[in-house]
Amino acid sequence: MIGWEFILLKSLFITGTDTDVGKTYITAGLAVSFQKMGVDVGVMKPFAAGSAQKKGYKSEDVEILLRAANALDPENLVNPQFFPIPASPFTAWKNLKTKPKIPLIISSFKKLSKLHDMILVEGIGGIMTPILKEYYVTNLIKDMKIPTVIVTRSKVGTINHTIMTVKMCEKYKIPIKGIIINNFDSGYPVNELTRDLKSLTQVPVLGSIPFINDMSNASLSKIFQKNLDLKLLLK
Ligand SMILES: Nc1ncnc2c1ncn2[C@@H]1O[C@H](COP(=O)(O)OP(=O)(O)O)[C@@H](O)[C@H]1O
Ligand SMILES: [Mg+2]
Repeated sequence: MIGWEFILLKSLFITGTDTDVGKTYITAGLAVSFQKMGVDVGVMKPFAAGSAQKKGYKSEDVEILLRAANALDPENLVNPQFFPIPASPFTAWKNLKTKPKIPLIISSFKKLSKLHDMILVEGIGGIMTPILKEYYVTNLIKDMKIPTVIVTRSKVGTINHTIMTVKMCEKYKIPIKGIIINNFDSGYPVNELTRDLKSLTQVPVLGSIPFINDMSNASLSKIFQKNLDLKLLLK
């Protein structure tokens, strides 16, 4: 126990530069690591999309996140809306005629926040993923009133995506706690990418996560403790 109970913990919104960049894996690793530090972490995936799993939770992301956090919160709070097609909430709405419900997301987030010290909220796609007309992930983060962490990859093209993500956060006045490089597919050497992202964005780079072979909580805990500045995230 390090004494985080004396610090007012803030929930975090884990966004990414794109879909499939590693938001779920990184959020899971953070959840495991914070638990290990004595923080009672909850998780949330406000909107999930894709084919529903046949057993257990509809969304695989929700299953991974809840297992990592060792949490047993009800699925309808952790994931208030699930769209059974791989699409943005906006496109899912148009195709399935089910409107994304922002007040439901916010009230679920508030309820979860009362059950834990902090909530790690996994984003949806990238920062400008549309939810309603003129309402993007940026607007959702603003309405949740929490800072963000940006997950980026190391593949060439990542600098463009990261700068665009940072610029949009700045435009919407969303505080950025840092960038995490998910170094799971080869591209830039991580030291060069870290140097250039720091200099180009002025945002702290919290570390880089290598390819994860073992998704058990013990393995995630080791990898994240070793490779990330976790204390910076709890400040
Ligand atoms: N650090 C990693 N090590 C190994 N595989 C990874 C890692 N990060 C992501 N992946 C792979 O990429 C896929 C997409 O990652 P995920 O976290 O689901 O992305 P997102 O949540 O941003 O859509 C995962 O299913 C996994 O196969
Ligand atoms: Mg995901």
